[in-house]
Amino acid sequence: MFLRSLKLENFRSYAELDLEFDRHKVIFLGDNAQGKTNLLEAIAILATGQSPFAAKEAELIRWDADQAIIRSVVERELGATAVDLLFRAGGRRAIRVNGIYQRRFADLLGKVMIVLFSVEDLQLVKGSPSHRRRYLDGILVQLSPTYYQALQHYQRVLLQRNNALRAIGEGVSADSIEIWDIQLARYGAEIWRKRLSLVEQLASRAKDWHAEISSGHEQLSLRLLPALDRLEGDDWEQALLAQLQEGRSREIARGQTLAGPHRDDLELTINGREAKAFASQGQQRTVVLALKLAELDVFRREAAEPPLLLLDDVLAELDIRRQNALLAAIGGEVQTFVTSTHLSDFTADWIDAAAIFSVHRGSVRPFSKAF
Ligand SMILES: Nc1ncnc2c1ncn2[C@@H]1O[C@H](COP(=O)(O)OP(=O)(O)O)[C@@H](O)[C@H]1O
Ligand SMILES: [Mg+2]
Repeated sequence: MFLRSLKLENFRSYAELDLEFDRHKVIFLGDNAQGKTNLLEAIAILATGQSPFAAKEAELIRWDADQAIIRSVVERELGATAVDLLFRAGGRRAIRVNGIYQRRFADLLGKVMIVLFSVEDLQLVKGSPSHRRRYLDGILVQLSPTYYQALQHYQRVLLQRNNALRAIGEGVSADSIEIWDIQLARYGAEIWRKRLSLVEQLASRAKDWHAEISSGHEQLSLRLLPALDRLEGDDWEQALLAQLQEGRSREIARGQTLAGPHRDDLELTINGREAKAFASQGQQRTVVLALKLAELDVFRREAAEPPLLLLDDVLAELDIRRQNALLAAIGGEVQTFVTSTHLSDFTADWIDAAAIFSVHRGSVRPFSKAF
């Protein structure tokens, strides 16, 4: 897919912005705090409806404005799609696809797909399990609307179940919990099935990328660690249900649900040893790079067209060898948006092929390549 245009109104630092893209490589160049990340954020929101950076939707609206608008035109093999999003202060957001308002949020998913690699991803190895779950979910939500729905249902049921556990702890009768157990097990099993098959795909790709970047010295392995004590056969639903029922008194005492996909982790090992425990800075960067390139491969295989690739400030975090591995791995058909403070992060080929914009105090202008 190809992002042809991006228009912003009162989005973050942009009062008004109108950009057209005609290249597969786009560089946003500028000093810190000039508005580069805001641009990638707007593109990312087109894919998932959610900001990968903002804690609250209200942060997206320009200070003193009452609504923010992102408009885009994305070209695909079957034609162009216009995707527009509107965020109102304290209100509901609105989604329009080709001018038609969409009632359901899920109708947005799949129109634009992205792989985002930002400095925060460097936490993937050493950070909390939630970073690694977000990595998996960020892929699955885009590739599978039914995953998105299962996750939504699961989270809603989890919240209700935790409330029920606490109520029971305070003396309310335990009757209602059965309903939540059954639903949690059903959606949980669906999430696990999809996560397991994704991890299987990612594992083989990430292993190859990792070997390539580390020159074959090290072997990376990925394994989903489901938050489930035991599984007999492959009936995940039954196994979770059984565990919820057996562990109920402990869960009532703690006031929370202790088994289920919300507590999964993704185990990363290098030559059989846990990367979280021992990987050096350099090794962590190689692992994250391999994970991100594997993600891109999964999208290439599973989606009809390659996604947009967004690289936020990561080149500066990688040494020359890893920078080159990354830039070389991106095929010519993947439209790639990169932010950077320096052109020196790029190879001459890249600079030649790219449309470069300079970003300065919230204005974005074509950058002249004539030095
Ligand atoms: N809601 C908002 N309204 C106005 N300005 C904002 C808003 N959110 C962030 N900014 C401004 O955007 C700028 C940061 O932009 P960012 O894209 O993160 O910069 P860069 O990536 O170039 O370092 C900051 O100057 C910040 O004050
Ligand atoms: Mg930035």
